[in-house]
Amino acid sequence: RTVAARIVVVGTGYVGLTTGACLASLGHHVTCVDVDAAKVARLAAGRVDIMEPGLAELVGRGLTKGNLAFVGGARDAVRDAAAVFLCVPTPMGAGGAADLRAVEVVVAEIGDALPSGCALVTKSTVPVGTARRIGELLGRDDVPVVSNPEFLREGTAVEDFLGPERIVVGSDTPGAAERVADLYRALGAPSVVTDAASAELVKYAANCFLAMKLSYVNAIAELCERLGADIDAVTEGMGHDRRIGRSFLKPGPGWGGSCLPKDTSALLRIAESVRYDFGLLAAAVDENIAQRDRIIARIAGAAGGDLAGARIGLLGLAFKAGTDDLRDSPALSVASVLCAHGAEITAYDPAVAGDLPGMTVADNAYRVAKGADVVVVLTEWPEFRRLDWHYLAALMRGDAVVDTRNLLEPGVVLDAGLSWQGIGRPRRAVSATSVS
Ligand code: UDX
Repeated sequence: RTVAARIVVVGTGYVGLTTGACLASLGHHVTCVDVDAAKVARLAAGRVDIMEPGLAELVGRGLTKGNLAFVGGARDAVRDAAAVFLCVPTPMGAGGAADLRAVEVVVAEIGDALPSGCALVTKSTVPVGTARRIGELLGRDDVPVVSNPEFLREGTAVEDFLGPERIVVGSDTPGAAERVADLYRALGAPSVVTDAASAELVKYAANCFLAMKLSYVNAIAELCERLGADIDAVTEGMGHDRRIGRSFLKPGPGWGGSCLPKDTSALLRIAESVRYDFGLLAAAVDENIAQRDRIIARIAGAAGGDLAGARIGLLGLAFKAGTDDLRDSPALSVASVLCAHGAEITAYDPAVAGDLPGMTVADNAYRVAKGADVVVVLTEWPEFRRLDWHYLAALMRGDAVVDTRNLLEPGVVLDAGLSWQGIGRPRRAVSATSVS
């Protein structure tokens, strides 16, 4: 069993709030700190703004049990902590490197208030060498710095935290990483205990590998189209090989979200800083832009060759289904290029309300079809499969559907008198139905 510890989590964003609520559910005494007083007040009242299954329930339970609290002042909160988790943002800064200012501000604020022996843990993704740098900033031999990267996916953050495939913890202070790993003991997950730099690199190495896997799949999908093969069959055939694995093999409009773009860019900068030319990773990033541009070309083709004045209806804006997160969403990237070419854009996403620059955001899927030349599926929301495609077809001005997630049932779309183009799949037009 886990021995209950006093833990402070600094930052109540995606990672911080999940970390705090989940550690409290394991029995620890957790205080979450944020500089945003209004947010602290909402959370203390049990109101969770983030769309994440199970999170609001865990927050509510922790508040009721009394082992989860939300406060404004970090210095006071850390005074009797056994571990302090830094979960502040590390966005992409100038030139693509991670911006560590938020981490530095917190370290400066709490540094001399930390009790002796307290572990200062980085959970945000930080460049390799950050633990060492924090150690220098801190200037205290009695406070070990520990790296404990988080691998949670949006939409399944609580599930990922409470059922992890591994716990990674690293420190250059003997014994400190083991003590942080012990906080997770109740989860029964394998733990990788190592030095600080290795733990920091695991996070980048894993996320960049996933990005390369997706760019590879998108490139193979393009080959499928040119060679008359079907990406679903190809990835199914690949996925049975356990060395490759079945997941992360779906082609799409390119990868996005709050992690993969920023982490690929940061690792390229890290490699550069030690004069390593990481061409393999750079190519994966370039391929992601090429994929987006191929999608644009496909939409332009479906609109009759010219995007100026074309009416394009977008289904989906979030970077993946199950989230309302628009950060680095490939859908927004596609939309901005369409808009720059003079297309008129109406979009619908079940999790997004309110207009966005360059487009009208509708409150239901049928409104995007109204008068549209092309309807484009950009996020894999399951409900798009269940739309009434006959009704949609009747509302449209044109007849083209571009399905960048291979989400729809092509037969259903074709039956409605529309054309359907997926990714990495043989092209099918209205005439194809009469043949079959
Ligand atoms: C990712 C990592 O999975 C997680 O371990 C890390 O801690 C944070 O970054 P997340 O950003 O929530 O998680 O999204 P993820 O589900 O990994 O998807 C990333 C992008 O890849 C999305 O744009 C998604 O649509 C795309 N994707 C994913 C595909 O195009 N095809 C796939 O088969 C899987």
